[in-house]
Amino acid sequence: MAYQQLLCKWRLYFGFQPAMVIFLLFFFKIVAGQIRYSVPEEMKKGSLIGNVLKTDKGILVVNERIDREQLCGDVTPCSFSFEMILENPMELHHVTIEVLDVNDHPPVFKKSDIMLDISESANIGARFVLDSAEDPDVGVNGLQNYVLTSNDNFVLKQHVNPDGSKYAEIVLQKQLDREKVPSLSLKLIAVDGGNPQRSGTVNINIVVLDANDNAPVFNQSVYKATVIENAAKGTKIVTVNATDVDSGSNGYITYSISNVKSNIADLLSIDQVSGVLSVSGPIDFERDKKYELRIDAKDQGGLTDSSKVIIEVTDVNDNAPTISVMSFTSPVSEDSPPGTTIGIINVKDLDSSDNGQVNCRIEQNAPFKIKSNLRNYYTLVTDTVLDRESVSDYNITVVATDAGMPPLSTKRTFHLKVSDVNDNSPVFSQGVYSAFIAENNSPGVSLVTVRAKDPDENQNARISYILEDSDLDGSPVSQSVSVNAESGVIHAVRSFDYEQVKQLVFVVKAQDGGSSSSQVAM
Ligand SMILES: *[C@@H]1O[C@H](CO)[C@@H](O)[C@H](O)[C@H]1NC(C)=O
Ligand SMILES: *[C@@H]1O[C@H](CO)[C@@H](O)[C@H](O)[C@H]1NC(C)=O
Ligand SMILES: *[C@@H]1O[C@H](CO)[C@@H](O)[C@H](O)[C@H]1NC(C)=O
Repeated sequence: MAYQQLLCKWRLYFGFQPAMVIFLLFFFKIVAGQIRYSVPEEMKKGSLIGNVLKTDKGILVVNERIDREQLCGDVTPCSFSFEMILENPMELHHVTIEVLDVNDHPPVFKKSDIMLDISESANIGARFVLDSAEDPDVGVNGLQNYVLTSNDNFVLKQHVNPDGSKYAEIVLQKQLDREKVPSLSLKLIAVDGGNPQRSGTVNINIVVLDANDNAPVFNQSVYKATVIENAAKGTKIVTVNATDVDSGSNGYITYSISNVKSNIADLLSIDQVSGVLSVSGPIDFERDKKYELRIDAKDQGGLTDSSKVIIEVTDVNDNAPTISVMSFTSPVSEDSPPGTTIGIINVKDLDSSDNGQVNCRIEQNAPFKIKSNLRNYYTLVTDTVLDRESVSDYNITVVATDAGMPPLSTKRTFHLKVSDVNDNSPVFSQGVYSAFIAENNSPGVSLVTVRAKDPDENQNARISYILEDSDLDGSPVSQSVSVNAESGVIHAVRSFDYEQVKQLVFVVKAQDGGSSSSQVAM
């Protein structure tokens, strides 16, 4: 065989040394020529490129891997040329090899993940450019298209750069809602047009940023509670609760009492963080039986909700009954018949129900009664006949007691005087007074003093002594004796003679100053 391995010189159009050697087997015959071959890249070592001499001696085969991308990058067509000198006979051949692209690269994204933070308030139509993929292959084997995994919110839009490369962006087509979907995970697939087709994928991780698009919401539109009257400051009444599905400060709620009469603001307070409504002032059932107020919940973005709180106050027996005197008559005459009205009183109790239910009685054991004809009005009446001479005055204590637990009571004392009636006659201390007098007495001498008593009072007890008319031996008794009306001293009016008069008997009357007087004889 006349094989000869020749010096083979080539020159590359693109000035770099390909990792490629071509062995040339030839047979000397032809003088000169232009030869052009098209070879796919990445052919196996030893693959046939062409037959230069159209014999089995001039076969061009691949010696080393031919990588189009390394050789030419994205320049097309990719070719290199060399001269080939054959000896014996001497022939010069200009060989051009065009390296054809093979789809040996998938589109590749630089990173495996694209991170996007997008506010839920982003407007429809907002665009977000994505990193592009690169495919070093050319033509149809290069990057052809992007595909986005299906989702509700975004559509894909593709663009061509001035250099012809393609990039994609996602366009918001439906509003995001962080409260429903706080994050999205999409995939962007870049595909080339080769056969078989190759693709590259990147994950798009979208974090949906919160916008203050939700107001706080109370869990009840009305809260009902009770508070006991006089409850200590700080006593918890009710806890209100609003929630806000936004995050961070957009969901941070503070509570306040709004729009109330100023007195409620002094009595109740709310913890702005915990929503605990508690007592901060004196709770007085007698002043307010019920409180109605509005509570506002506000997030830091200023969105609010409000709710109503109705608080019933529970009564406590903290008020004693009061007694007011409508009328009171003193003194009362001792001859008043039983049942005579002495006074009328009115009782009140500010508390309610049992706590305000009042009953009256008289404390002492006394001849009086208290009775009620009209609610809260009581009449004080005599229960028996009175006798001033036995008891001339009474302290009547009326006790008003409520029905609370424990009960509270109030006392009021009435000082009642019994006025006199002339119902007693004067009574002499002796039925008969005796005295002796010696005859020949001087006129005017006092003989004896009579004394009567009357248990009545004042005028009714003021006694006058009167000598009752009678005859003594044919002349009036008044010519013999006289009585001092006030002192009851009996005087001789004349001188007596034992031989004429041995004994004088006469009657002295005692009379009181009352309208009906009485008398007594002696
Ligand atoms: C309010 O309600 C939410 C949800 O029901 C609960 O998690 C939270 O603890 C409540 N807050 C208070 C103060 O009770
Ligand atoms: C509302 O929240 C309050 C406080 O946490 C709780 O006591 C109450 O039971 C809640 N109401 C409802 C209807 O869940
Ligand atoms: C009534 O009360 C007054 C004042 O306390 C007292 O001076 C008086 O003696 C009392 N009278 C009777 C009859 O108890």
